[in-house]
Amino acid sequence: MSDRSAFQYALLRVVPSLERGEFVNAGVIVFCRQLRFLEARVGLDEGRLLALAPGTDTGPIRAQLETLAAVAAGDPAAGAVARMEPSERFHWLVAPASTTIQPGSVHTGLCGDPRAVLDRLFKTLVLAPLAAMRREYLAASLEEADLAPTWVEQFRRWFGEASGVVGEPNALVLATADGAGAPSARVVLLKGVDDRGFTVFTNRESRKGRDIAANPRACLVFPWVAMERQVVVSGAVERVPDDESDAYFASRPRGARLSAAASPQSSVVESRDELLRLRAEAEARHPGDASIPRPPHWGGLRVVPDAVEFWQGRPDRLHDRLRFRRADGGWVVERLAP
Ligand SMILES: Cc1cc2nc3c(=O)[nH]c(=O)nc-3n(C[C@H](O)[C@H](O)[C@H](O)COP(=O)(O)O)c2cc1C
Repeated sequence: MSDRSAFQYALLRVVPSLERGEFVNAGVIVFCRQLRFLEARVGLDEGRLLALAPGTDTGPIRAQLETLAAVAAGDPAAGAVARMEPSERFHWLVAPASTTIQPGSVHTGLCGDPRAVLDRLFKTLVLAPLAAMRREYLAASLEEADLAPTWVEQFRRWFGEASGVVGEPNALVLATADGAGAPSARVVLLKGVDDRGFTVFTNRESRKGRDIAANPRACLVFPWVAMERQVVVSGAVERVPDDESDAYFASRPRGARLSAAASPQSSVVESRDELLRLRAEAEARHPGDASIPRPPHWGGLRVVPDAVEFWQGRPDRLHDRLRFRRADGGWVVERLAP
């Protein structure tokens, strides 16, 4: 016979009133009927909570969590519920009681030492929530038969789907490497896509601009995590013709044009005051409604893909990855292992 007993546990989560349904694990309750063990351990990661919901008053949340821990411990001073039987207390503790602190679903297991289980769960699920943050990807699948005939049509399809769901779906990570192979990455905005490639605009004297001058290749990632998707592109980088850069520059608001003319992007500057001075000088050079010419070092870069991968999250991390790859003057579609 095993000397192990059945136990149940539930997480206490602080759920700020956000649309995204995000939460911070702030405690764990372990109950073992056979051993008459019921205890909760609580701890609030204020940094994570305030990052999620700035301005939240954490004092009352902490007080409520401490009350729940006292109830679990059967502290008679914690009120009538604390004086109930352990199993009744557990049922009370895992019934959603407040809109801010919500119990997660109840899980079961077998153990010989519920206090050790409580310690382990508290360490992994509450104190180290990063390691414990995981979601199953269940939203969709991507089969070969679902793919559009070309990468650009498939990209447009997914971009359209992302538009209602992802904030700034045209924000992408652009990775480059310098002549010695040292990588760097940053977020930029996609301003055009067609079968020639993906167009972004930037200062060509910036770090990324210097990287590309030395090593004209790039990798792009569209991290559409809310859709359990990413698109990963790699290819050569070419300069967008000046007339295209002029047209896009002219379409930008005046303030953005002035800042582009003023800012020595990626250089170290003394202070924000120095930036304001550079900007004021640019304004003085182009007073009133005078047109602001595109600075010669500012313009478009086009990533001409030789591979475009469409990644769709699937259950158990067995994701779908379908890649269009340039081969023999055409394109092949390949499935990659997740
Ligand atoms: C949402 C977002 C959009 C951005 N869009 C652009 C952009 O379109 N072009 C650009 O040059 N920088 C953009 N930036 C700033 C870049 O991330 C980066 O700071 C800047 O280009 C300098 O990068 P570098 O020093 O690596 O060259 C954006 C940043 C964010 C967070």
